[in-house]
Amino acid sequence: MARNPRYDVLFEPVRIGPVTTRNRFYAVPHAAGMTNAMPHMRAAFRGMKAEGGWGVVCTGYVSIEPGSDDSPLPFATLWDDDDVRSHALMTEAVHAHGALAGIELWHGGGSVMNRTSRLPTMSPSGTSWMATHVNFMGHQRPRVMDAQDIRLLLDCQAAAARRARQAGFDIVYVYAGMGYLPYEFLLPEWNRRTDAYGGSVANRVRIVRELLEVTHEAVGGKCAIALRISLEELRARPSERAASEAHEVVALLADLPDLWDVKMDSSPTDCPPSRFAPEGSHEPVIDFVKTLTRKPVVGVGRFTSPDTMVGQIRRGVLDLIGAARPSIADPFLPVKIEGGREQDIRECIGCNICISSWHDGVPVRCTQNPTAGEEWRRGWHPERITAAASAAPVLVVGAGPAGLECALSLGRRGYEVTLAEATDEIGGRLRFETRLPGLTAWGRVLDWRRGQIERLTNVNIYRGNLLSAAEILELQAAHVVIATGAHWARLLYSALEIPAGELSGAGVFTPDDIAAGVSLKSPVVLYDFDNYYMGSALAEHLAGSGHKVSYVTPAGHASAWGIMSNEQPQVHRALASAGIALHTLSRVTAFANGAVTLANQFTNEETRLECASLVIVGTRFASDTLHAELMTRAGEFADAGIHSVTRIGDALAPGAIVHAVYSGHRYAEELDAEPAAVPYRRDAPLARQV
Ligand SMILES: Cc1cc2nc3c(=O)[nH]c(=O)nc-3n(C[C@H](O)[C@H](O)[C@H](O)COP(=O)(O)O)c2cc1C
Ligand code: SF4
Repeated sequence: MARNPRYDVLFEPVRIGPVTTRNRFYAVPHAAGMTNAMPHMRAAFRGMKAEGGWGVVCTGYVSIEPGSDDSPLPFATLWDDDDVRSHALMTEAVHAHGALAGIELWHGGGSVMNRTSRLPTMSPSGTSWMATHVNFMGHQRPRVMDAQDIRLLLDCQAAAARRARQAGFDIVYVYAGMGYLPYEFLLPEWNRRTDAYGGSVANRVRIVRELLEVTHEAVGGKCAIALRISLEELRARPSERAASEAHEVVALLADLPDLWDVKMDSSPTDCPPSRFAPEGSHEPVIDFVKTLTRKPVVGVGRFTSPDTMVGQIRRGVLDLIGAARPSIADPFLPVKIEGGREQDIRECIGCNICISSWHDGVPVRCTQNPTAGEEWRRGWHPERITAAASAAPVLVVGAGPAGLECALSLGRRGYEVTLAEATDEIGGRLRFETRLPGLTAWGRVLDWRRGQIERLTNVNIYRGNLLSAAEILELQAAHVVIATGAHWARLLYSALEIPAGELSGAGVFTPDDIAAGVSLKSPVVLYDFDNYYMGSALAEHLAGSGHKVSYVTPAGHASAWGIMSNEQPQVHRALASAGIALHTLSRVTAFANGAVTLANQFTNEETRLECASLVIVGTRFASDTLHAELMTRAGEFADAGIHSVTRIGDALAPGAIVHAVYSGHRYAEELDAEPAAVPYRRDAPLARQV
């Protein structure tokens, strides 16, 4: 198909200092959890974006010296020549597909704890980041940087830039964002210096200027120099000389970098969940940058719509369309737009499971793209899949996220697939969950798979088809896949921090009851020890339907795990603005006479809370009765032509949607393959001299 001429502008080359990118699609720096310890996985992950048409593909944050050690968070290093080869693997993979490779050189300053290097940290005035996020807490306070430390920073940046050039990078970054060292100089809370690096904005920006200068000199004009900078806080600060301190900073540096890469200041605002921020949410903060520089500007904002991208360029907001998450969810986004296949884009849903993998310190995972991180170790490709190894017909029972992904991927392999759904609509849990406040974009998990399956003639969906074990035996499928999902339990939560003690009876509900349309009486107590989105989203939903709602959790925060997906700060704000009372560190121990009894999680002190309806968002169990029934008839499988019966997704082990999609995909990839003791290749750091 031909490209829509409306999108031609996206495919124009753009000059960035001494290099030129083939188009305006720019995969911005983002960590992928693979570090230098998994160099082949990392190279393949980034090479895939180049294959998918991105003009520039960047690394994640790369430390320039051992005093910038973010462990256990997964950062990369370019500390000495031994690190060069590991990065060269990536530049080779990126160049092989005609893209430019960018590297984000990084110093964490007072925001890291040097847990592994055990070196003292440093910051402009001895201030450290005292985060509320436990992952970022620590007990080492930084030393105040003296002239020698400033020299150290500049020398390490220059040395790393030289190595970056040696490794084949085309674009080398100075990173002044997100609470890290150069950013710390920009804000007076961090920077209380009285020397030439503190005080006026011109002084506070000096270190960034010097970093740009030494980087420029180090690469000898061979690489472009990019400045990634957070402007949110600076934009909020008035200035006597300009519209804000952000304007002043940009004007002072104007044409010094070859490229401006502009972003927000904290992960929850920079990389916000779609639940709380729409596409293009950065624009109000960064919209002025192009008016103050002649150099190209790249920015982000979970861009998945080519019309929005074109709008950003036509309106003079950006020159290059930056993306982290959209390039993970669909590494082939540019190729699809180029081929007039916009409807094939696997759009990022903004769930932030990817950022949670960074917080977890593991290779990146993506709800929409189950092949992310698996390119090298399992040989999975986001667009291609091995042809079927047999003509065996497959029956998939259940059209939720796991069943849909499984049926689609099996169909792409060429298997004859029957997808049987008990209800009249496909989508499983998504049908209800996408109706909860802020979760509409998650419907893309269903929409994309439905759209792709509809094009396959070898996948047939049967709705309203509640199959029994006896009926399955009659269908003559060689392989039966059970994807019947999971259900919420009415279990409470014990002082041992495990679900225990069922609470049944009138007035006790689960999310399944709400999904089925049960009507509740106020006041409602929503009791959440699932700790992810369901509890808080349901509380918002019920408050929005006019109920008086209290939210109770044994954890210290609402949606406690939501800190991993950048949701938690906004969850607290959303609950507060919906008038929902919050009771943390509290277990529900009883429900009688119009009230629940709460016990403090640590002291066991009891209180009572008025309650007409108790909604327990606790634990989930597999809905696997069909599987159990089928297995009692295993002796009949051979006569029925059945070679295998397998559970996938929630029907096997309930989890988040990302787990279900992955499980469905893995089944499809591995059908008819020889099982291996270790199901993936294990990566290892490149040999260094010891
Ligand atoms: C998994 C993940 C890791 C990230 N790591 C980095 C990083 O190492 N350096 C950085 O400057 N930004 C990092 N970011 C932020 C992104 O570069 C980007 O600014 C943000 O995700 C918003 O862009 P998007 O809406 O296109 O995702 C990361 C984002 C994600 C999702
Ligand atoms: S995990 Fe979610 S937010 Fe991250 S890239 Fe995938 S779909 Fe987007």
